[in-house]
Amino acid sequence: MTDLSQLEADLTAAVAAAGDVAALETVRVSALGKSGSVSELLKTMGQLSPDERRERGPLINGLRDRITAAIAARKAELEAAELEARLAAERVDLTLPPPPERRGRVHPTMQVLDEMIAIFADMGFGLAEGPDIEDDFHNFTALNFPPKHPAREMHDTFWLPQNEAGERKLLRTHTSPVQVRVMQQGQNKKLPGWIAQGQAPPIRVIVPGRVYRSDSDATHTPMFHQMEGLVIDRNIHMGHLKWTLDAFTRRFFETDAVVTRFRPHHFPFTEPSCEMDVQCDRSGGSIKIGEGSDWLEILGGGMVHPKVLANCGLDPDEWQGFAFGLGIDRLGALKYGMPDLRDMFASDVRWLEHWGFSAFQAPNPATGLS
Ligand code: PHE
Repeated sequence: MTDLSQLEADLTAAVAAAGDVAALETVRVSALGKSGSVSELLKTMGQLSPDERRERGPLINGLRDRITAAIAARKAELEAAELEARLAAERVDLTLPPPPERRGRVHPTMQVLDEMIAIFADMGFGLAEGPDIEDDFHNFTALNFPPKHPAREMHDTFWLPQNEAGERKLLRTHTSPVQVRVMQQGQNKKLPGWIAQGQAPPIRVIVPGRVYRSDSDATHTPMFHQMEGLVIDRNIHMGHLKWTLDAFTRRFFETDAVVTRFRPHHFPFTEPSCEMDVQCDRSGGSIKIGEGSDWLEILGGGMVHPKVLANCGLDPDEWQGFAFGLGIDRLGALKYGMPDLRDMFASDVRWLEHWGFSAFQAPNPATGLS
């Protein structure tokens, strides 16, 4: 009997003396663990005679239950004390100033895109989009690039590996394939296609997006942004194209001083075709518009070729219109004076901090956009 009372007294003292949860765990293992003192006692019960077991059994079980309860109670006590200590030590001082926070900036391309969308929206243009990964039909064939025609080579196309169907997809070299998608889907709403809805004529849409060409120098990057414009109606002519682009340019640059010139050009999908340049000064490491003797080409355009209309299911004797493709990044570089287009996509946060825009700036009076 004394051995049991002594053991209980020792264990109870050890539990009370445990100063933290880890020390208490050591006591628990020494008593109730696999070869703990109480566990060893329980094991001896098998060797006792029935009489002895009747007598000692309840005593040993009682000891085990009281020690288990004592450990649980001490554990709750210790945990509460530990929590109290942490709460006292880790108090948050709400009067401290917050740590400095780095503000993100809006990339100039996205700023310029918003400005352009606002101006064209004001002129009544809707918005359409198409996929970056295109097929040969939409990027070239439907746009009147004959198969194997050298004009396909001019585009420095990034081709994807051939797929199981023997087809090679490509990264679109311009946003013009979306002209095809808009016109086709306008004809047949059931045609599978990427954009949500096409439009039956009259059509007036802009199509912003990324385009890709294997080309890189100060005024070319392998990926850049274009905005396609497409207007189809019954009596549209070249004069509408020129007016639209001149009005857009003046509004975009927020000045009438900007000088543009239209040069005859060739695109397989427009006839006649032109390119538009903006006069600028590129000497001295930055670009200034409205002065100097340099010209920067910012867009191609023209009257949509009758074959393209026919390829998209429109009757060229009934419908005609113009299209243009503007370089968004170039327009931004011109407006905000960035000398090298490659910096735009170098992902240098210092560059972005310098040239980027605040997401919270005051609305721009020219566009009504912030
Ligand atoms: N897709 C042409 C390019 O990328 C631009 C263009 C668009 C020309 C629409 C005419 C009409 O160069």
